[in-house]
Amino acid sequence: MSESLARKVVADKEKGLTDEQIGAKYSVNLKFIEKAIVEKYGVNISDLKRPIKTSKQFVPRDDTLQSTTVWSFKSRGAWATHSGNYRGNWSPYIPRNVIKRYSEPGDLVLDYFCGAGTTGVECKLLDRNFIGIDINPDAIKLAKENVKFDFQGDLKAQQQRVIDFVKGDARNLDVIEDGSVDLICAHPPYSDIVQYTENDPADLSHLGVENFLNEMRKVALESFRVLKDGKKCAILIGDMRKHKHVVPLGFWTIKRFLDVGFRLKELVIKRQHNCKTTGFWYTNSIKFNFLLLAHEYLAIFEKSVGTTKQRRKYGKWKTDYEIVKPELESTTVWIFSPEDWLTKTLSNIVHRYNGQNYAVDGEGKHVNGPLDLAVYLNPANITKLLQKVKSDLKTDGVLAILCEDVRLRNGRVFSKAIQIERQMRKRNQFMIQEIIVISCENGATIQNENELTISHRYALIYRRAR
Ligand SMILES: C[S@@+](CC[C@H](N)C(=O)[O-])C[C@H]1O[C@@H](n2cnc3c(N)ncnc32)[C@H](O)[C@@H]1O
Repeated sequence: MSESLARKVVADKEKGLTDEQIGAKYSVNLKFIEKAIVEKYGVNISDLKRPIKTSKQFVPRDDTLQSTTVWSFKSRGAWATHSGNYRGNWSPYIPRNVIKRYSEPGDLVLDYFCGAGTTGVECKLLDRNFIGIDINPDAIKLAKENVKFDFQGDLKAQQQRVIDFVKGDARNLDVIEDGSVDLICAHPPYSDIVQYTENDPADLSHLGVENFLNEMRKVALESFRVLKDGKKCAILIGDMRKHKHVVPLGFWTIKRFLDVGFRLKELVIKRQHNCKTTGFWYTNSIKFNFLLLAHEYLAIFEKSVGTTKQRRKYGKWKTDYEIVKPELESTTVWIFSPEDWLTKTLSNIVHRYNGQNYAVDGEGKHVNGPLDLAVYLNPANITKLLQKVKSDLKTDGVLAILCEDVRLRNGRVFSKAIQIERQMRKRNQFMIQEIIVISCENGATIQNENELTISHRYALIYRRAR
């Protein structure tokens, strides 16, 4: 990076120019701007002129708990000292929901990727003890500032609680005793997307996918060690896109946690609202045939013994549908009603993937020679499905598999989508192109203390390579 250019970029940021304006002025991308800021300030923040402000509000306007597996918050939340200034910080609604659902006042909560301290602020407001750890000492300073506020709550309880931040590494939690934490609630950096330090090799945001996953396994092992039996560990992680194909970083990270012994209690889809769904992006998403990433996964793991080999009961799908000319979706989250979700999903898939010659569950009126597109609905057996697909689908054709996660009798979740992605990857003949989430809620909010209502399905889109 040219030093003089970096200085000019930071000077313009300090004057209040936006990233777009700076990008256009010097022909630099967002990564360059962020790198220049981290070099000068030590932290990746978006607005250099904004001081920490404390709002007069200490609870969100809508404080009801999320009750289904699709979480969507229209605004990111600006109560207490919350702001979106630290790049990559999560909406306070997420830790708030997790803390309220999975811990009690007085419990100890840990966030080992604490950044600017969002989870710590919520612990202070919700009367929990908290340890925040981050690799970046400047983020720790910022987090300490963010929890310095007074609010009208139970003063005695506040004085008894400890909200602590220390510089450290999530892969090595030596400062924390075995089985001492009641809840882990953390949002890791994503492999090589937003970078949080200039060049600290311990900063996981500098790693490529393979190394990132290997290091996240170490984080999972440490999480398992420090958590009390029966308690929860909530991790928010999303996917990436490379060469127009999705890289399922979310599923792969979740698998690392399951491999060290965690069970899956919930798999939540967190919708992202900063996606552009009109104009330039809409046109490009259709022209170049890709969907804009609009979701992340919030996996709630449980440290508990017991088998995962439970019988799985698959719900029956109503499979009447027709293929119509749809309004094309441009992001990875499709919101439909329970009545017409299948018609709209299949119509979108057929039109987007140019299915002149397509079949659904092996049947189709339009079949004439090898298929362009084969769609399967909630298949039980991938080996059998692939045998059929191999003879029916042409090379470069599209295979779309629709499926859903299942609630087991012991209350845990079996993710069929993660299993299918794994089985398909082992086969090596298909390249995953998209992971689409179809949300079909009926608007009924059932408040269940123990579990969320599974209200989403997936469409996994593959291209046949050979
Ligand atoms: C996505 S941000 C978390 C933001 C935080 N939830 C908030 O709301 O401010 C990820 C954080 O992980 C930190 N980080 C990266 N590698 C780390 C490691 N090995 N141990 C601990 N923290 C690390 C980064 O410095 C960054 O602050």
